[in-house]
Formats: sequence, structure tokens, C-alpha cells
Amino acid sequence: MKQSDSLKYRGLPLREGSGTMPALGFGTLIPDATETRNATSGALEAGFRHFDCAERYRNEEQVGVAIREAIQAGSVKREDLFITTKLWNNNHRPERVQPAFESSRNRLQLDYVDLYLIHTPYAFQPGDNQDPRDQNGNVIYDKGITLMDTWRAMEALVDGGKCKAIGLSDVSLDQLREVFEPARIKPAVVQVESHPYLPQSEILEFCTSNGLVMLAFAPLGHGIKPGVLENPVIISIAQRVNKTPAQVLLAWAVQRGTAVLTTPKTPDRARENFDISALPSDAMEEINAVQTRQRFNLVTGTGIPGFIARRG
Ligand SMILES: NC(=O)c1ccc[n+]([C@@H]2O[C@H](COP(=O)([O-])OP(=O)(O)OC[C@H]3O[C@@H](n4cnc5c(N)ncnc54)[C@H](OP(=O)(O)O)[C@@H]3O)[C@@H](O)[C@H]2O)c1
Repeated sequence: MKQSDSLKYRGLPLREGSGTMPALGFGTLIPDATETRNATSGALEAGFRHFDCAERYRNEEQVGVAIREAIQAGSVKREDLFITTKLWNNNHRPERVQPAFESSRNRLQLDYVDLYLIHTPYAFQPGDNQDPRDQNGNVIYDKGITLMDTWRAMEALVDGGKCKAIGLSDVSLDQLREVFEPARIKPAVVQVESHPYLPQSEILEFCTSNGLVMLAFAPLGHGIKPGVLENPVIISIAQRVNKTPAQVLLAWAVQRGTAVLTTPKTPDRARENFDISALPSDAMEEINAVQTRQRFNLVTGTGIPGFIARRG
């Protein structure tokens, strides 16, 4: 392995000995079932070993099939994979956490899950409807529960042994602290939107000082145009280092110490997005100096996912 290749294989140790997360991860937010299965297989072939799933994506079964096939074919071992899934907003009531976790685990066909995240800090009306709405179309929130109530049930999953680590997603630094301080089992990972237009430096600093991993989603700005992929600084660095803008953005994320998720849907894209190399320090500095600030995903304001079609 060349020194410059090591970035794509970087592993980030999780607190309390709960394993190592490959920094470069494959995100499974893909609406179509067949595309999910093919993209997951393509990602495995390209070298991805970290998979980010969610009950809300409604495709855990297809991810599970692709992973099971690769394990049965002998091309990968379960212990070399790192698989995350997430608890959705309608399952925040403590008594709903374990059943939701077990359902995800069964759909993924896994004996254990490496990481389970509370998908957003918003509790929705408990029940089987992932998107409960009133007559006016407004989300029905569950006011009778705190994030810490849900966290206690997450801790019990780790005690049960089928879940190696737990964490949060789409939280602010204040919400992270609110759970971190009283938690018996501390969050190991915090998943938030992050790219050069939203570096999340305060959360990253908190994570670094407290032994958490910050896991960046939307590293390419969800592909929204104009966005980070069209930024002239990124384009000029890509030309200089002979990489694509996507590879530069993914490398920047890993090199600054975060884990990162990307969602290549074709084998070519999977190979491209896995093939990242270390950037020279002046390139890192130029990206760190980008002043544009933009959040592309508004889930942190309401708990309503920006990119998932509504279906009951
Ligand atoms: N916690 C949360 O609330 C949350 C929210 C959103 C996402 N996530 C997780 O984060 C993962 C990553 O999010 P994301 O995929 O939206 O982020 P992203 O990588 O910023 O955006 C994906 C977009 O980038 C494009 N793209 C991918 N590779 C490219 C390349 N090499 N060159 C040019 N364009 C490229 C894709 O195009 P095509 O459409 O052509 O493929 C797609 O439009 C998701 O799969 C999910 O696991 C979590």
C-alpha cells in the first residue's frame, strides 16, 4: 500500500473499546430497491467496508441481501465490516427502541450492529407511521419524552450485546452536550452534515477533545448545484492534484479527522469515491479558508427528512 493510499483505509477507534470505524463510509440513502442492492454490491467491490443505513430509508432488506451475498461468496468477512443503522423519530419512546432495533437487525440479517444512532433529536408521535401528520399536514411531535429518555433505552441495547456502540445524528452541540454529560454509555459517534460550506468546527472540536468520532454526511453538498462540487477552490485543487472534485472533498473530510459518508450509485462512481489520496497541506489550508456558509439539509430544524419521499 502506497503512503498516499492510506487515507482510504483509515480507521477511527471508537471510545470504550467499541471497535474501529473505517473513516470512508458508504451511505445507503437510495430510494430505489434494486439500485440500493446493486450500489451496495458495487461499494463492497470497490473496497467500502463501512455502511450507513436507517430504518427510515426503507431499504435495509436490500442492503442486507447485498452484504449477505458478499459474505457467502467469501469476498468479505462480517468482522471486517462496520454497519450502522438508525432509530427513526416515531420510535423514540423507550419501549419502542428495542423492537425497532431488532426489526432493523433482522432486515439487515445481522447478528449484531456496529453502531446504532438516534436519527434525529425530534420525537414524533409514537406508532408505526414514520411521518405522522395532523389534518393541516403538520408533523405531530411527541412532547412527552426527552432525548435522554430515548438515550437510556439505547444504552440498554449496548448492555444486551447486539449493539456495539451508540450515537446521535442531526444534533446541535448543545443537544450533544445534553446527552453526553449525563450518559452512562457516552455517544461514540455524532453524524452531522459537513463539507467546506458547513465545517462544523465546534462539534468537531468537542468530538476530538472527548474521544467521539464526527461522521460527516452530504460531503458533496448532496450534489445540489451550485454547491461545493462547483467551488473554484475545489476545482483548482482537483486539477492540481489530478483528482476529481468529489475525491478532493472526501479526502479533505478524512484528512481533517472526521469519518465521511458518500453514496456512489454505480461501480465507476464507487471506485472513484473510494480512491482518495492525501492532499498537500496547502490544499487543506485553502479549503479551510473557504468562507461560504451553507446548510443543504434542513432536517436539523424539524426532524423532517429533506430527501425521502413521504409514504404513510
Ligand atoms: N443523518 C441524516 O439525517 C442524513 C441525511 C442525509 C444523508 N445521510 C447519510 O449520508 C449519506 C451521504 O449523503 P449524500 O449521498 O446525500 O451526500 P453527498 O455525497 O453530498 O451527495 C450525493 C450527491 O452527490 C453526487 N455524487 C456522488 N458521487 C459523485 C462524484 N464522484 N462526482 C459528482 N457527483 C457525485 C450524487 O450524484 P448521483 O445522484 O448522480 O449519484 C448525489 O447527487 C447518505 O447516503 C446517508 O447514508 C444522513
